[in-house]
Amino acid sequence: MSFTLLARDGGARRGRLATPHGVVDTPTFMPVGTQATVKTMQLRDVASTGTQVVLGNTYHLMLRPGADRMARLGGLHRFMGWDSTILTDSGGFQVMSLSDLRRVDPEGVTFKSHVDGSMHRLTPEKAVEIQLKLGADIQMQLDECVRLPAPIEEVRRANRLSLDWAARARRAFRAEAAEGLLQFAIVQGGTDRDERVRSADGIVDIGFEGYAIGGLAVGEPQAEMFETVEITEPHLPADAPRYLMGVGTPADIIGAVERGIDMFDCVMPTRAGRHGVAYTSEGKLNLKNARFAEDMSPLDPESDCPAAADYSRAYLHHLVRVGEPLGATLLSWANIHFYQRLMRELREAIEAGRFAETARRWRTVWP
Ligand code: GUN
Repeated sequence: MSFTLLARDGGARRGRLATPHGVVDTPTFMPVGTQATVKTMQLRDVASTGTQVVLGNTYHLMLRPGADRMARLGGLHRFMGWDSTILTDSGGFQVMSLSDLRRVDPEGVTFKSHVDGSMHRLTPEKAVEIQLKLGADIQMQLDECVRLPAPIEEVRRANRLSLDWAARARRAFRAEAAEGLLQFAIVQGGTDRDERVRSADGIVDIGFEGYAIGGLAVGEPQAEMFETVEITEPHLPADAPRYLMGVGTPADIIGAVERGIDMFDCVMPTRAGRHGVAYTSEGKLNLKNARFAEDMSPLDPESDCPAAADYSRAYLHHLVRVGEPLGATLLSWANIHFYQRLMRELREAIEAGRFAETARRWRTVWP
């Protein structure tokens, strides 16, 4: 078994996942590294935050530099210089969100590249093959994520298709993947209770190393997202990791950990960083704001991240205002460090049986 459950506190779980590139302590946060880079950052600085997994994207990397080229170059780990775990998304979600021309059929999806307009095709088997060429430690099944709101018939159709694709992805993975690699399936089903349950039961029947909940964090209210997690979670095996895709704010993460989720990814800390916004122990700070222009205090006095401790708010304000790339780099670093501090405190709280108290303390600053 690649996953070991070490402790529980209420619904929250503390675990450890083993991959060919190391150990992942859960609950974990995975910064997004779409284009073989965590945007603006050097990976040694990403590693310094305590990050154990970064995300890559099949959709982007199959377009540029291409899966075969990546394989010839020795795979994504070597290419980007990241020696720890990599999880790759399958492309299903990005085809929906990035390609303005796509056609789904029972066999797969044909889409037009957002880069140069060229046509490409993904099938469940091809997504497995590409992710193996990239060298992902953890790969995701190809799924179809419908844009909500959608008629229930459409949600049902896409859900059945994703389930069929899960079975095909699993067969391909079993036939081709080396020992120790992991494959996760994705629960879909929109906001429909029966469809979510059908999806979860279906993929658990097939059997994967881990299970993701997809189709969320697409603009729905937090209460709706939590409700979907609550519907789904009892149908997932306790001895496998659960991954809530694309989530979220600190409050989203705390609430989802409370409901039994182990893994998260989100562009939020890096995107905010590129837009001059910092996550700090005082809350979210917009460094563009004139009130920081002569504030020589460190970005976050409580942080031991070099980006937050060694640079003043006035300097960061200046970098952001004049559009210097170093501003985005330092704020992305500080923000990922902040997220990893949250995850570390949640893990320690679960181990010590004081999750509720820690969650309450965080919520006073991050409601
Ligand atoms: N990232 C965020 N949500 C999803 C989803 O539903 N499917 C996939 N493949 N990736 C996602």
